[in-house]
Amino acid sequence: MTKPVIAIDGPAASGKGTLARALAHRLDFGYLDTGALYRLVGYSVLERGQNPADHAQAAEAAYFLRDYFTPDLLNNPDLRNDASGNAASKVATMPEVRKALLDLQQNFASNPGGAFKGAILDGRDIGTVICPEAPLKLFITAAPEIRAQRRLKELQSRGIEATYEAVLKDMLERDARDTARKTAPMKPADDAIIIDSSHISAAEMLEKALDTAMQRLGLSA
Ligand code: DC
Repeated sequence: MTKPVIAIDGPAASGKGTLARALAHRLDFGYLDTGALYRLVGYSVLERGQNPADHAQAAEAAYFLRDYFTPDLLNNPDLRNDASGNAASKVATMPEVRKALLDLQQNFASNPGGAFKGAILDGRDIGTVICPEAPLKLFITAAPEIRAQRRLKELQSRGIEATYEAVLKDMLERDARDTARKTAPMKPADDAIIIDSSHISAAEMLEKALDTAMQRLGLSA
């Protein structure tokens, strides 16, 4: 029997990653942060001293990753820095890169690991492209100003200096790139449940998502 899949999409700092992790923990599902895959491609290109805007170099790194991927590669703290994030948003616009990472994501969705009861993937195109048949799709959003405040707090807690204005500008630019790209742009699937996290706590959002998941997937607590 195939295991259930939960697709969670949304823009940066919407709270989707926190929700996806907590939901996976509570439901005993495997979790894949697909943004980290794009970050890993961007980071690898930079590590090779190459240019993340170069399609051939980015595609080569993505196919290399497809062939030699292990989950522990995603734990590299350097993936979280701005350089990797910026490189990720460039390579993520390229159809060849997205194609290279497609099987990896779909394989995880259909086989999250023996011990897990299902799979949760978060990203931008999980409900629309990677797992369009997922029985539960969530799209988490929040006002850009609120997302920028959250990101600023996160940066400050890591000892990184930044201004609200710069973070907001960066966030709006990334949203525009993710939404406007031709291949797999960020958008809610037609049957996605949209949750605005602007004025609810992470704990409230988790309870809401858990209730929905239990009902929709026929799971018990
Ligand atoms: O969620 P994140 O900031 O770690 O994502 C890094 C970049 O990868 C971001 O620019 C969006 C892109 N991305 C994507 O295009 N598709 C996904 N499924 C996940 C992330």
